[in-house]
Amino acid sequence: VSEERFELSRRQLLGSSALASLGLLATGSATASAASAGSSIAFEGPHQAGITTPAQDHLVFATFDLAPGVSRGELIATLDEWSVLARRLAAGLPVPGPSGAEYPPADPGEATGLGAAGLSLTLGLGPALFAGLPGAGSRQPTTLVELPAFPGDQLDLQRSGGALCLQACADDPQVAFHAAHSLARAGLGNVQLRALQVGFGRTSSTTAGQSTPRNLLGFKDGTNNLLASDRRQLAEQVWVGADETQEWMRGGSYLVARRIRMRLEDWAASSLAAQQEAVGRFKASGAPLSGRREHDPVDLMATGLHGLPVIPDGAHIRVASPEANGGIRLLRRGYGFADGIDPVTGELDAGLFFISFQQDPGRQFAALQRRLAANDVLHRYLVHTSSGVYAVPRGLGEGEGWGSVILG
Ligand code: HEM
Repeated sequence: VSEERFELSRRQLLGSSALASLGLLATGSATASAASAGSSIAFEGPHQAGITTPAQDHLVFATFDLAPGVSRGELIATLDEWSVLARRLAAGLPVPGPSGAEYPPADPGEATGLGAAGLSLTLGLGPALFAGLPGAGSRQPTTLVELPAFPGDQLDLQRSGGALCLQACADDPQVAFHAAHSLARAGLGNVQLRALQVGFGRTSSTTAGQSTPRNLLGFKDGTNNLLASDRRQLAEQVWVGADETQEWMRGGSYLVARRIRMRLEDWAASSLAAQQEAVGRFKASGAPLSGRREHDPVDLMATGLHGLPVIPDGAHIRVASPEANGGIRLLRRGYGFADGIDPVTGELDAGLFFISFQQDPGRQFAALQRRLAANDVLHRYLVHTSSGVYAVPRGLGEGEGWGSVILG
């Protein structure tokens, strides 16, 4: 992108912020309900949308680097602009800006007519932001530290990390893309795209009303997930508490993203019994090997032939269970991905773009993943190819902007 294009976009966006603050937003919101009846997710609230929001079907997950030399004030402006846009897009409204044949269209246009499609936009900040932005160090939450390396990791560094992440989820893939695309464009000059992952087919339920979907291994995924209705568990495991020193993180959470490739060829060559023992559940019903129906409790003590455990020692649901991990739980919200084939082996480059939300990634995700990498039979079929950890700020109130709240 040339210097000129940068300049044009930035001038145009300054214009659009001005329009927004002049009250055009208010006019726009009258049309919001018409444009997106029944399918829009509230943007404002104590927590950001996109965490306990019923998992939508499509994901676009974008990460960003800081542009070289960007100042704190410039980044605040971008993040404030992003929250103005996120409010509008979540309501099914287009990117605002000057109109006329002499301007590049303010809205890129690919989601015109699609409505809000249940869009949620969730912002996260990586450790790289606080390391790279002058004057931001004092705002870094102490819990936000890089994840350790795990045995078997084969991380692509370009796909990992980043100063910022945006999780766009929607019931229409093009609406999710449009949201990430529009915010990336608005950030031009101050932040630049680092990686973009498209995900399809939610692999988790986050509310009791949703049926459990299947992941690309063919197993129901999300049966024992934390749900929006588990308020006490969410307070203990997901939301950052009132004792956090950074005000902007109270009611926030931490997002861990791992691009996990599945060795689908090896998996397909494994017997049904071996697959079920690797997971600890029946493939058809999703029931634990110790039960008959999907939501039967997991009985880790049950024994069968020769006194052996019915749910084997290396089964994924045993190694990941709260019982085996001092009560640790995560809110999982991942998506399937398929990015073509490995040019060397011809194998599918497909798997699970794992996303989890937790109060403390070190105490929760890292502790679990360390055990899974060592003991989980399922792990033999998996390769982790990216890693990221991000602080997810609390939700915004009316008129608040991300930049001013976090860095102002
Ligand atoms: C491609 C990678 C993975 C696949 C295919 C996978 C698949 C599954 C499946 C099929 C279940 C059983 C159904 C359910 O309760 O949701 C499950 C449960 C679970 N998984 Fe995974 N998983 C993967 C990676 C991970 C990772 C990286 C973690 C955490 C570090 C994790 C943590 C859990 C937990 C906590 C449970 C619930 C255990 C319980 O309480 O019963 N999984 N997973």
